[in-house]
Amino acid sequence: MRHLHTSHSHRGGAMVGAFVLLLPFLFPSLFTPLSHASPSILSEWNAPKPRHLRLLKSALQRQTSNEQQLWMPLANQGWKTCSESDIPPTLPEKSQGYIQVFLDGGLNQQRMGICDAVAVAKILNASLFIPQLEVNPVWQDSSMFMDIFDVDHFINVLKDDISIVKELPDDFYWSTREYYATAIRANRVKTAPVHASANWYIENVSPILKSYGIAAIAPFSHRLAFDNMPKDIQHLRCKVNFQALVFVPHIRALGDALISRLKYLPTERESSTNYLNVVTDSRSKQGNGKFVVLHLRFDKDMAAHSACDFGGGKAEKLALAKYRQVIWQGRVLNSQFTDEELRSQGRCPLTPEEIGLLLAALGFDNSTRLYLASHKVYGGEARISTLRSLFPLMEDKKSLASSEERAHIKGKASLLAALDYYVGMHSDIFISASPGNMHNAMVGHRTYLNLKTIRPNMALLGQLFLNKSLTWPEFQEAVVEGHKNRQGQLRLRKPKKSIYTYPVPDCMCSA
Ligand SMILES: *[C@@H]1O[C@H](CO)[C@@H](O)[C@H](O)[C@H]1NC(C)=O
Ligand SMILES: *[C@@H]1O[C@H](CO)[C@@H](O)[C@H](O)[C@H]1NC(C)=O
Ligand SMILES: *[C@@H]1O[C@H](CO)[C@@H](O)[C@H](O)[C@H]1NC(C)=O
Repeated sequence: MRHLHTSHSHRGGAMVGAFVLLLPFLFPSLFTPLSHASPSILSEWNAPKPRHLRLLKSALQRQTSNEQQLWMPLANQGWKTCSESDIPPTLPEKSQGYIQVFLDGGLNQQRMGICDAVAVAKILNASLFIPQLEVNPVWQDSSMFMDIFDVDHFINVLKDDISIVKELPDDFYWSTREYYATAIRANRVKTAPVHASANWYIENVSPILKSYGIAAIAPFSHRLAFDNMPKDIQHLRCKVNFQALVFVPHIRALGDALISRLKYLPTERESSTNYLNVVTDSRSKQGNGKFVVLHLRFDKDMAAHSACDFGGGKAEKLALAKYRQVIWQGRVLNSQFTDEELRSQGRCPLTPEEIGLLLAALGFDNSTRLYLASHKVYGGEARISTLRSLFPLMEDKKSLASSEERAHIKGKASLLAALDYYVGMHSDIFISASPGNMHNAMVGHRTYLNLKTIRPNMALLGQLFLNKSLTWPEFQEAVVEGHKNRQGQLRLRKPKKSIYTYPVPDCMCSA
């Protein structure tokens, strides 16, 4: 689904952050926008009906046998996290100056930028000023680094590798976002190529550090190569991503509360009058203590961009076409293809109904605890309800936490995403209905911890859903067969691929 990555360049024009105004918004995060979708226009759908009724009927009556195996953790795959003695950290004798970066994109894109910023500062023997996060026009969250990540933990974990400062020395009081936004500045680096080499930074940024003592790099997303990097630099990037970056305590606390509720909530809502306060030791009650996190990005933006038909009839088709016209002036590569062509190539995001059928076919029964990591679903409850009929024990942030508990994160896309990330990392099984930054971040982090992650075989599913004569047993067999090796089996990183998605071998040591 590479097309998704190159698409949304229109957003560059709408950028709020001063830097990104000047440059194309190359790699937008695919994380679900929260407040961006316009208020739903009711006439837009004729309440989308299930598209795969035959399969759905069988799925609702399914008998499952293979549940035990599904929940089994992955066996050791021969890789472990490296110990410090494998690659001992070293601090430069003298700092060569300060590196300052401004990061755009959603939470997961910024996360990679933070890791790369640490690496670049290290390459240059410089100190790093805490990375500054730009406000994304889609996600509209002005949260800063320290609102999302535990900044003291960050500095402390990396203290033997690099010096990181929360504030710039007084000499550099002038080095602000506004300063760089208002004129061309000699110490601003804005020409870092995508996937620049370590040498590029040494040749182009070291002299700036020498002259000015500080270099501000923006844009900085995807500006450090994954290949031909010194081993210690790769290792440091991984250490940042998998060890130094943890969320602020209130996100972790809320996440822990959600996780414990997911694990030990009674299966019958009604049987607990005070269900938001169910405590951990009521585990005797119900549930096997296991849960699946489903990341479902199915918002209007993605639906429109995919140019697929999602069964909402003429009204929906027109609404999506109009959206494509307004946002991309109709220039959407996928719209050259028919729905059938797109589906058979696996280029259509799975609808809630389809991801439900996939999970059912894999063997999850109606007692499966499902946590929906998702913000807005295009088509709303009409679409969600089909998924809920297959998995009645489906929960999300709203159903699991009171509005008081959610007060700190309300309306803050990055914090909501952080919470979903945290819960996702603690799930027995994670599955994403569409590729994107969240999916990649999770796949990488869960690989690092050898946790189970199901990767939907989009092309296979597209073809299966097109075949209207398929019976449930046939569908099920094909799904099971087609996902045998897509449940967390290790994949080695190939050249050009991200170490944050494929942490083996760069980030890990053989066991
Ligand atoms: C950084 O420091 C190391 C060791 O002190 C040195 O070998 C290297 O050349 C320095 N690099 C830069 C860009 O200053
Ligand atoms: C699950 O399905 C069985 C029958 O297949 C039904 O008896 C049971 O009530 C269902 N459970 C839930 C939570 O819907
Ligand atoms: C649909 O599935 C049936 C049963 O597996 C198969 O015989 C048929 O060839 C498939 N049709 C298409 C168009 O692939």
